[in-house]
Amino acid sequence: MKNIFLSFKHHDDFGELTSDYYRAARLYDFLTEHQFNVFFSAKSVVASGDSDYTALINKALDQADVLILVASCYNNCTSCWVKYEWQNYFQEVMSGKTHGLFLSYIDGNVNDYPREIRSREAVSWSDPNAEETILEMICNHLGKKEEIQQISDKTTRRAKGSSYGYEIGDEKNRLKVQARLESRYDDSILSEIISKRRKDPFYILDVGCSSGFLTEVLFKKFEENIRVLGVDKFRECIDDFRTRFSDCDHFYAHQLDLDRPGWEDELHIAMDKIGIPHFDLVFCSMSLHHMADSAAVIKALRDFLCDDGHIYVRTNDDGLKMAYPDPNDLLGTIIRMSEKTDGISDRFHGRKIFSELYNAGYKNISIQHHSVDTAGKTEEERKLIFENVFSWRENYFRQQVYEMTKANKTDSLISSMKAYERIVDAVKKVEKYFKDPTFYFCFFITTAIAQK
Ligand SMILES: C[S@@+](CC[C@H](N)C(=O)[O-])C[C@H]1O[C@@H](n2cnc3c(N)ncnc32)[C@H](O)[C@@H]1O
Repeated sequence: MKNIFLSFKHHDDFGELTSDYYRAARLYDFLTEHQFNVFFSAKSVVASGDSDYTALINKALDQADVLILVASCYNNCTSCWVKYEWQNYFQEVMSGKTHGLFLSYIDGNVNDYPREIRSREAVSWSDPNAEETILEMICNHLGKKEEIQQISDKTTRRAKGSSYGYEIGDEKNRLKVQARLESRYDDSILSEIISKRRKDPFYILDVGCSSGFLTEVLFKKFEENIRVLGVDKFRECIDDFRTRFSDCDHFYAHQLDLDRPGWEDELHIAMDKIGIPHFDLVFCSMSLHHMADSAAVIKALRDFLCDDGHIYVRTNDDGLKMAYPDPNDLLGTIIRMSEKTDGISDRFHGRKIFSELYNAGYKNISIQHHSVDTAGKTEEERKLIFENVFSWRENYFRQQVYEMTKANKTDSLISSMKAYERIVDAVKKVEKYFKDPTFYFCFFITTAIAQK
């Protein structure tokens, strides 16, 4: 197993953990999951039980195949121990004593850092794929071909959007649970907009409509006055949508993948066929965060709206969840593992939606967060909240195991199986929490409404 040394400033002058520490801790988790032996002093020193800190650091430096300096600023990377670690390693690399790799992972402008750092490869904290970039550099240096392929597969998958499956697990039922828990927020806002409409018919585009369960809940009551076009990337969704609305004249469905180039032209053709000139409302419920570039889709959708037409988005963010008691931070484990899993939707889309709408040129943007919690709920109701937030996550990990088996990649298969076992275990334990009436869980749904 290859050794990686993380060099970072642990505490600030007030004894508080630094942001460098948190970055390094995330990188430690990430690299450990990729089967590296990582020296992260915050854990490794305690684990070794050795009290001779200098000897321990020197030994780890001698064994390191890679050293990564993690720093938020000049002062932190030149503080006593940090400087000792990386400068020592750097000099040995430069003198040819070691064939190790020296990398820095830094915040801000590289020109604000010491010359040695400026002269070598540096990854920025602002790079959304920083961890994968670092992994790729390490694998390149160590000649690990299989891992490099895996990283490029992962990047390709991300470019394609999430690997969400309508037919996977109990998804059809979960969508009904989700609609039951969350749609009342859509209902109050949308009913008001539709009721105040100035003309009939009122045209609605339902992006990622699935089988139309939610579409029916929200819009069927307005049937005479509206025309709804549901679009979804899955043929099965479109078939189920058409079956659901087979006795309604004003609900149409068209298979459309908004991750595929040219979807705009295809949508125009579908609209022309039905006779829809534009949309008065674009409705996106829990669909944008599955797309590879939600910001680009939001921008392109604006062109399909009439002047002053509305876009309504419901999305979520794993940062808006809390659990108590949760002594082993299982919620944190599940969230961190989910975030790093290939093919999963954007788990932090809620915080981005305002910027995406603003940058796309929408006006009158209003964002709201609505809470759903376990307080005063029956065991059955608490179970539904659990299912809505947790039950589906293991599907993505199972899919990874399946893909690695198919690709016959032994190392990756072992790590994806381990990850699958860990998530199943954590989710099962959390499921037990929900049976306890004293346990409290709360999550927030994010909704956004804006106008062209
Ligand atoms: C979680 S479901 C939400 C369904 C429904 N809107 C609701 O809120 O109940 C997400 C839906 O978005 C669809 N979807 C995901 N990516 C898509 C894409 N690139 N183009 C079209 N539909 C997509 C999925 O197929 C799925 O039906």
